[in-house]
Amino acid sequence: MSVRIAPSLLAADFTRLGEEVRAVAAAGADWLHLDIMDGHFVPNISFGPAVIKALRPAAVLPFDVHLMIAPVDPYLEAFAAAGADHIALHPEAGPHLHRSLQTIAALGCKPGVVLNPATPVELVLPVLDVVGLVCVMTVNPGFGGQTFLPSQMSKLAALRRAIDASGRDIALQVDGGITAATAPLAIAAGADVLVAGTAVFARPDYAAAIAALRPGSADTEGR
Ligand code: DX5
Ligand code: ZN
Repeated sequence: MSVRIAPSLLAADFTRLGEEVRAVAAAGADWLHLDIMDGHFVPNISFGPAVIKALRPAAVLPFDVHLMIAPVDPYLEAFAAAGADHIALHPEAGPHLHRSLQTIAALGCKPGVVLNPATPVELVLPVLDVVGLVCVMTVNPGFGGQTFLPSQMSKLAALRRAIDASGRDIALQVDGGITAATAPLAIAAGADVLVAGTAVFARPDYAAAIAALRPGSADTEGR
């Protein structure tokens, strides 16, 4: 199974965002992960659609937008218009998850569902037919640089089984605390997209940092 790496811009140098996007794209990133926080759904504020729109010309790789905002529905169109390729939301962020996912698909984006550590797999199973991405949080959302929660590996494994049984093309993403040491655990449990903020942007060589997260990497630096 091929594994894609999605560096999270949250850990980038905010004074040079365009350069940072170009640098990770050149370093082999598969997707760019964009964390949107509202200071309400999560206890932190990051950036909004205007920043995504400004960065869109900087790279051709898919923009993977992770919305940590509530209510989420009034903003879906703005993120699609700003250049999002994927839009993922938390089931707790709106009253009608299936409807929100349909809206994202109608806007031409890949719809995603993100599960917090305390959110059960069962919340996404009834809507698997309309998702293109499921993300398992391995930290509580809101901040980069937190410690990976191994308790979430059984959730990843259950989702891997459900996705395979569905026969649908659904990315299984893991987000939070991914390093060269934890990536193999998430991959073994079934993840095929790894989000990594600190483990990429806090290292001097982005290409080496991204390579170190891929399966079979012999690079143990940073473990
Ligand atoms: C946390 C975000 C993550 C975060 C990951 O709320 O969803 O995407 O940027 O950062 P690291 O990789 O440093 O844990
Ligand atoms: Zn994220």
